[in-house]
Parts: sequence; C-alpha cells; structure tokens
Amino acid sequence: MVEEDKVMQKQARDYIVFPLDFSSVKDAKDYVKLLDGKVGMFKIGLELFIDQGPSVVQMVKKESRAKIFLDLKLHDISITVQRAMERVATLGVDLVTVHCSSRAMLEKAVEGGKGKTQVLGVTLLTDNDAKAIETAGFRDRFVKDPYLLVMRRAKMAYDSGCKGVVCSGREAREIKNRFGNSFLAVTPGIRPSWTLLENDDQKRVTTPGQAVTLGSDLIVIGRPIRDAKDPAAAVRKVIQEVETALSQR
Ligand code: C5P
Repeated sequence: MVEEDKVMQKQARDYIVFPLDFSSVKDAKDYVKLLDGKVGMFKIGLELFIDQGPSVVQMVKKESRAKIFLDLKLHDISITVQRAMERVATLGVDLVTVHCSSRAMLEKAVEGGKGKTQVLGVTLLTDNDAKAIETAGFRDRFVKDPYLLVMRRAKMAYDSGCKGVVCSGREAREIKNRFGNSFLAVTPGIRPSWTLLENDDQKRVTTPGQAVTLGSDLIVIGRPIRDAKDPAAAVRKVIQEVETALSQR
C-alpha cells in the first residue's frame, strides 16, 4: 500500500475520486466505462450499494482498473463493525468509511479490514452545524469551534490505525501537518472555478487546485463531472488543474 500511495501521488488523475451517485447500475456502468483510466478511484455510496449489493463492486472491477472506495459510513458496536469489515475485505475494495465515534470501534474496523481494505474515518458530517453539535451534547468548546472536534476525531482515527480521514480542503493542511504524509486527507465539496451549479448544497467548497495545494490526497468530485456536457473533457480540465497545483507545490 505504501508503494501504491507513492504511485498515486505521481499522477494527477490518481487524485480524482468519482462518486457513482446514480440510482441505476446502467448509468453507473456507463460512467465507469467513460472515466476508466481518467480517474484514480470510483466511490460507491449507499444508494447504489443498497440497491445492487456487492455485485456493483464486481461491475466496477470488471469495467475498470481504478481503485474502489465503498462509502458505507459504518457505525455500530465494535464487534459488528469488525464483522462487517471482514465481509468488505473479501470484496476487494480499497477504502471504506467508518464514523469516528469511538476508538474501540475504529480499531476493530481496522482489524476487520485485515490490511486488505483500509479504513477512512468520518470526523464530522458537514451538515452538523454548531446547533446540531450542541443538541448532541458536546462541550461548549466544540460547539464554539467544530474544527476542534474534527481534529480530535482525526487524532482518534490516526491512533486507531485508520488510513486517513474525510475532511474539508481547509482542514487538509493541518491534518497532513499533524499526522504526516501517509495519513490520507480525502476531500469532498470540490468545485472547479469553471463550474456553476445552481443552488449548490456544498457550502464550504474548494477548487481541485486549492485542495491539492492544501495537501488533499484524494478529491471527491461528482456533479461538476457528471453533469458536464462532456464529462471526459471536464475530467481532463480537472487533471490539468491538479497537475498545475502539483508542479507548484
Ligand atoms: O461533487 P459532488 O457534490 O457531486 O459530490 C457528492 C459526493 O461527495 C457524494 O457522494 C457525497 O456522499 C460525498 N460527500 C459530500 N460531502 C461530504 C462528504 C461526502 O458531498 N462532507
């Protein structure tokens, strides 16, 4: 995995994670075929996985050489998460998300992945604002500054043996500084400057170039590619932007 990470960092396309946010497996397959060789990883989320089950993982493996990120956001008692991870490890996926809610659960998740599937910690979902954090019973300092909670949970993920965390572009730099280069910062909410989405639900966005400059190892970029008139051309533009950012890093 360490060697693979080095290779990942050499090529701009390997920074790009395309989420297969589709309700039909046919659409997902069309995009996997279209983007194979142009992105480093496909992300399979709950919608498609609940609908299709492990067969969707097999489809992506059959149609592409890209890595696979199964975004299950697991959260349960430790033994249940471990057993779920043992099943996931048999599917041949590279990354799975698990909520950073307890160290014991994260450690068991890592154990269950058996070194075949790595765990990415989910620190704080972006729709948790200060009010939601207060309602959930967190201390005042976390309510006042949710970033402190993100960092505390990132440390828990690191101490538990996770491969990295999902974080905003703005948190990436601090995460890389604190936990080192091999701990992955995976950043969603990416919007190239040339994309204009009406009523965008992503509030704290970064461009691909900014995210990579800040230290993100993987950028999750969906609708700007999926909804582009020419998705392959949109990916090429993102690759160029990442290449430029890497050359200036
Ligand atoms: O680029 P776009 O907004 O379409 O990407 C959406 C994808 O990113 C979804 O698969 C979603 O689950 C994921 N995601 C997100 N915001 C987060 C974490 C993940 O949008 N904070």
